[in-house]
Amino acid sequence: MYGVNAFHTLRVQKYLECFHLPLEKLQEISARLKKDFNRGLGKHTHHRAAVKMLPTFVTATPDGTEKGDFLALDLGGTNFRVLHIRVNEDEQRVMKSQNCAIPQEMMVGTGEQLFDHIAACLGEFVNSQDLKGQTLPLGFTFSFPCEQKEIDKSILIRWTKGFNCSGVEGEDVVKLLKEAIHRRGDYDIGSVAMVNDTVGTMMSCGYKDQSCEIGMIIGTGTNACYMEELKNVKRVEGMEVKEGENRRMCINTEWGGFGDDGALKDILTEYDEEVDRTSINPGIHTFEKMISGMYLGEIVRLVLVKLTQEKLLFNGETSKALLTPGTFETRFISEIEKEDKGVENTKKILADLGLTSNAVDLHIVRLICDTISSRSARLCAAALATIVNRIRVNRKLDHLKTTVGVDGAVYRKHPNFSEELQDMVRRLAPQCDINFIVSEDGSGKGAAMVTAVAQRYVCILAYSCAKINIVVQKKI
Ligand code: GLC
Repeated sequence: MYGVNAFHTLRVQKYLECFHLPLEKLQEISARLKKDFNRGLGKHTHHRAAVKMLPTFVTATPDGTEKGDFLALDLGGTNFRVLHIRVNEDEQRVMKSQNCAIPQEMMVGTGEQLFDHIAACLGEFVNSQDLKGQTLPLGFTFSFPCEQKEIDKSILIRWTKGFNCSGVEGEDVVKLLKEAIHRRGDYDIGSVAMVNDTVGTMMSCGYKDQSCEIGMIIGTGTNACYMEELKNVKRVEGMEVKEGENRRMCINTEWGGFGDDGALKDILTEYDEEVDRTSINPGIHTFEKMISGMYLGEIVRLVLVKLTQEKLLFNGETSKALLTPGTFETRFISEIEKEDKGVENTKKILADLGLTSNAVDLHIVRLICDTISSRSARLCAAALATIVNRIRVNRKLDHLKTTVGVDGAVYRKHPNFSEELQDMVRRLAPQCDINFIVSEDGSGKGAAMVTAVAQRYVCILAYSCAKINIVVQKKI
């Protein structure tokens, strides 16, 4: 803080106060999320619940015996990936992978265009890998909220994270993919298992560490899944659990939707409201918009504009770039907060945005970035604490030891995000001993793992015409 005018800093801090979340507030937020979890799982309440708690039909984590060759598709962030994965006793190996860009206009075009593009990329990959004659099982990581009916039937509830293709919401995504592949007619795929990226991450980490029963993503979007006691998943009918049985199912919480019913009103700032208003999906994924990579940079930009207009930054002079939405990328936050090169990076980033800065400005910009990323880490910690505390209570344990598989650029690339998150979860869930594993290629490998585990056994709910639900074990 040396060399910084104290009064000036005090005024800046006043503006940043709205982002501060003390421990007690986080405990309160965690308690609210706990209620929302119950609502999402409830038989009569889940339809209107903000936190969807989606059943995934993944009822087992890997046991290390899975093997085989798989194709995996990973769609959900800025890139789309195709992978060929080999699973054997001691590893899940990516034999080959390919990134395909999804052009911006395709993200908001028609569903048919999007799925034709996916089928074309997969076709090209299958050809280049000489896999054309084989019909390999395919794990499809589709990182959007889906109401999963079976492991290979998954209805998109709504798009998130900048996607908004027509004709997909309310439709079975596996069917759309298969139709696109059939339209081409030059290759085929085997059975399909659909997974959310959180589930993929949990499953790929679960291969290394069998106590991994939570998957968390903090990247373009944010979300988590965990293994819930089947008896608590009231919204899935027909899954009979006998007294004393400990059957579980992975639940995709879709915690990004927390607050969509107004539950976070007291902590939303004017900047969050502006980000929401100008987003492609106002009113949707309120929690995610305070946390994830798609939005953090924009929040920082709005604060920078405000403080400049208040003459607390850059001598009161904005620039065209600073006034343009989306110009302050989330990765800048990590670069600015770096211990060693932070100051140098800040100078360069601000200069590229056409801003003239002095030493005080550099300090304030870093303070803003730190405030916004720290709020994100603390909110994630509150949400993760809700999950671990829930698992502990579910299992009637005084002490829970568990592992979380994590992925996402915000968690992996920010210099102290993971540390802050972990410290805070430990304070919010003191009776839980949590191990964090960063997953490499998690969602792709995990999709292969789900397919592999599904080949061991998959529980599928079959609905009879008479609406009597029966549970069948089906090999896919
Ligand atoms: C969004 C999606 C969710 C996904 C998350 C992380 O929140 O709705 O399904 O898991 O982003 O990619």
